[in-house]
Amino acid sequence: MGKFLLGVIITLVILVLAALGFAMLGFLPTRANVEPPHLERHFAMAAVDASTERHAPRITNPLTPTDQNLEDGMKLYTMNCALCHGGLDRKPSTLANSFYPPAPNFISDPPDDPEWHTFYTIRTGIRYSGMPAWDKTLAEPDMWKIAMLLSHMDKLPPAVQDFWKANFNTAPAAPGDENNGKDERNEKKEEKHDH
Ligand code: HEC
Repeated sequence: MGKFLLGVIITLVILVLAALGFAMLGFLPTRANVEPPHLERHFAMAAVDASTERHAPRITNPLTPTDQNLEDGMKLYTMNCALCHGGLDRKPSTLANSFYPPAPNFISDPPDDPEWHTFYTIRTGIRYSGMPAWDKTLAEPDMWKIAMLLSHMDKLPPAVQDFWKANFNTAPAAPGDENNGKDERNEKKEEKHDH
């Protein structure tokens, strides 16, 4: 039994040293300008989700979804998130595919997570990715406003939709309209309308 245990421990030590050697000799891939393999993406996303489920407090958004709060959310999103997650003007982010993993586009494909989930991600960021933690940069009410906007993207009140159109020259997605914004031809058509 003692010999067996010793064997297990020696094997583990060799594996750890091999992994360290692998990394120190420069075999660990560190490039961000490649697509993550499908399997890696699948497991990494499941792990991030599970960690959020385990750690994020189940708090309800302390703010009510008034027109003003949603419009504030749009401004905050534009200033802090659009660079990587796509702007309300529906121009695709030039940086989105330069991260490993890429940053999802929230204008064509908003997250369908509850607000406490999105709030936690915004506040704490995602380790080993390009997603920053915003707790040192944004006030909590501002993070709640952005989480609110993202969860109301397909059910914005008419006044907020008008605010969107007036300020960003494009229309918010209609409920159930999955192609809105994803279809380049749509964008071109809308551009023509405006000029
Ligand atoms: C510098 C680029 C960058 C900025 C700026 C940025 N993000 Fe991210 N974000 C990322 C990347 C890259 C990911 C993908 C991480 C992953 O899939 O693990 C991500 C992931 C996320 C996710 C998780 C998405 C999912 O599918 O679960 C949320 C939510 C999010 N970001 C919200 C925001 C919000 C809100 C802002 C603005 C306050 C913001 N991000 C600003 C790069 C950025």
